[in-house]
Amino acid sequence: MQMLRGFRALLAAPDAVPSGTGFPALSVRGVSKRYQTGADALTETSIDVAEGEFVSLVGPSGCGKSTLLGMIAGLLAPDTGAIELDGERVTGPGGGRAMVFQDAALMPWLSVRHNVEYGLRAQRVARGERRDRAMDALAMVHLEHVADRHPHELSGGMRQRVAIARALVLRPRVLLMDEPFSALDAQTRTVLHEELQRIYLETRPAVVFVTHNLMEAAFLADTVYLLSSGPGRIVKRYTVDVDRPREERDPRLTEIRNDMLERMRDEAHAKAAETGRPPLAATSAAAG
Ligand SMILES: Nc1ncnc2c1ncn2[C@@H]1O[C@H](COP(=O)(O)OP(=O)(O)OP(=O)(O)O)[C@@H](O)[C@H]1O
Ligand SMILES: [Mg+2]
Repeated sequence: MQMLRGFRALLAAPDAVPSGTGFPALSVRGVSKRYQTGADALTETSIDVAEGEFVSLVGPSGCGKSTLLGMIAGLLAPDTGAIELDGERVTGPGGGRAMVFQDAALMPWLSVRHNVEYGLRAQRVARGERRDRAMDALAMVHLEHVADRHPHELSGGMRQRVAIARALVLRPRVLLMDEPFSALDAQTRTVLHEELQRIYLETRPAVVFVTHNLMEAAFLADTVYLLSSGPGRIVKRYTVDVDRPREERDPRLTEIRNDMLERMRDEAHAKAAETGRPPLAATSAAAG
């Protein structure tokens, strides 16, 4: 219930704040998080995300990626450190951030258009403008033709595109995406990579994108942060110096992906040697 309230608050995020303040759009400084259960999720993590920069976060399962995203969204409070957006400390949801989750989490009783409009309703945007903005956002993901359908009438890929439209309609300053494509087949995923690349080039929000798929991480991002196994900390930062629009088979992307994979495998094997347990199969999922 608390999560749902947080989710609604996120959707109700007000419009983008003015840009060009000279700060990095988003600054995460020395942030750690331990849950009340005692689970250590994240240690002393710092990242800067510039205006319009696309950042991917990758790392083994349980290393704290969703926790970090939840803190940036303002749904969770860090134990140490601080998160700032345009120099203002993040203390709760709102303020130009919008989230796309792994499962689209659409409201089944609302039409596609009303799902997309939902956050604008909470912002008390007038009906005509709501409708126009929702239709524009749906056009961006090529789904105007299903505006009157309900979520159960859509494919999984279409539902994720509606979830992206629902975030875009808020014109977010920072778009947060937690494994948005992980439930999709490889072919749909490739189509959505191209689509997200195009939307990003058209709208240029800052993006923090969490994924297990290393190729996806490199293909989409300007910068990729690789986190260690939990409690996570950043072990390497990659600058993806490839012009857009990109092609997935670009050799530089493959090189970056291979380096990340190698590091994750080395860490998994070192951990296995330390604990006596076999390495997680997670690194094979990451190979994508
Ligand atoms: N609400 C919670 N209460 C207690 N512990 C939690 C909670 N959410 C996450 N954790 C723990 O915090 C650690 C980090 O979890 P988190 O979900 O952030 O990892 P992740 O990197 O997103 O993993 P995955 O790749 O599997 O999604 C894990 O040990 C997890 O068990
Ligand atoms: Mg996660």
